[in-house]
Amino acid sequence: MPARLGALAGVAAVLVASVGRAGEADPAAGRAFAMQACAGCHVVGLNQPSAPWRQPPGPSFFDVAKEPQASAGWLANYLSRTHPGGDDSYPPLTAAQASDIATYITELRRRR
Ligand code: HEC
Repeated sequence: MPARLGALAGVAAVLVASVGRAGEADPAAGRAFAMQACAGCHVVGLNQPSAPWRQPPGPSFFDVAKEPQASAGWLANYLSRTHPGGDDSYPPLTAAQASDIATYITELRRRR
């Protein structure tokens, strides 16, 4: 199963960049996208190329994953809107991107 997911991740990353897609969330694609779109303000995961530039940064995704309300559904819903703090550089996400990132974040909890 992991090998199959790995093979799919490359394909999914291309699809995510263009149009949405039907089917299950792809946490590997979510991680890749978040490393580009969110890492300026958040610790997204291990081996992040650079620390967040924003000071203070937003909460680390490792910490977000530990919050009791942070189910995949809650996160996908949260991510489908602009951040409540009014940060206007938060990018608009497709439903598929929000779902991919939400699933990626919930997987950080299991790896804690
Ligand atoms: C311009 C800076 C900035 C960017 C870009 C940004 N965030 Fe945030 N984010 C914040 C700040 C600051 C907070 C905490 C304050 C708030 O909620 O507005 C936050 C809060 C959050 C939370 C809520 C944590 C919680 O449990 O309350 C999540 C989830 C989140 N961000 C995910 C993301 C994702 C995913 C991306 C990329 C698609 C992203 N953020 C991009 C600054 C940013």
